[in-house]
Amino acid sequence: MLNLAVCVSGGGTNLQAIIDAIDGGSITNTRITAVISNNAGAYALERAKSRGIEAACISPKQFGSREEFNQAFLEKLDSYQPDLVVLAGFLVVLPEMMIKKYKDRIINIHPSLIPSFCGKGYYGLKVHEGALKRGVKVTGATVHFVDEGTDTGPILLQQPVAVEPGDTPETLQRRVMEQAEWKILPKAIDLIANGKVRVEGGKALVSE
Ligand code: GAR
Repeated sequence: MLNLAVCVSGGGTNLQAIIDAIDGGSITNTRITAVISNNAGAYALERAKSRGIEAACISPKQFGSREEFNQAFLEKLDSYQPDLVVLAGFLVVLPEMMIKKYKDRIINIHPSLIPSFCGKGYYGLKVHEGALKRGVKVTGATVHFVDEGTDTGPILLQQPVAVEPGDTPETLQRRVMEQAEWKILPKAIDLIANGKVRVEGGKALVSE
């Protein structure tokens, strides 16, 4: 059984997609051990609580320095002994010691086709603003393993999504979520839970 810790910062629709996929049986051999937020007001915490899932909040505001926050965050995460850490709209830069400790055991969902519209400054709606500004006709989402860089780790799954005439960042964000994120994040978890993914030579290899 794969124990997940899901890290969130906001609405938690990707968390909901994971919960629904576990309930519906499209993710197997998996349970969500805990949901951790950096933001006490995150609706994602309510989604977790309403399903009886342990929900914790650790905010940088509770600590005098970034180092203290990082330490507390890592201790909290370790206390759940997760097999896999899922960043589902988690908008905090991870401490390096956490990335090292959980090497090849952290995945992130990013709302573009990496390497487009990713890296520092590209998160949430800003990604879609960038895509519309550039005039791309196709965008999408990517699930990747997390390494020390920003959105640079091995790519596990990608799903393209068409940009439509008249799209706003909000309409595009919604379509990318519906057509890509809520599908490939649960799928990635199921593949990992069933031993179908390995990371080799900086690449994520899938055997279905
Ligand atoms: C999602 O679109 C996710 O891809 C994005 O934040 C949103 C969270 O929504 N993540 C990033 O931009 C990470 N760089 P949610 O809280 O409803 O799942």
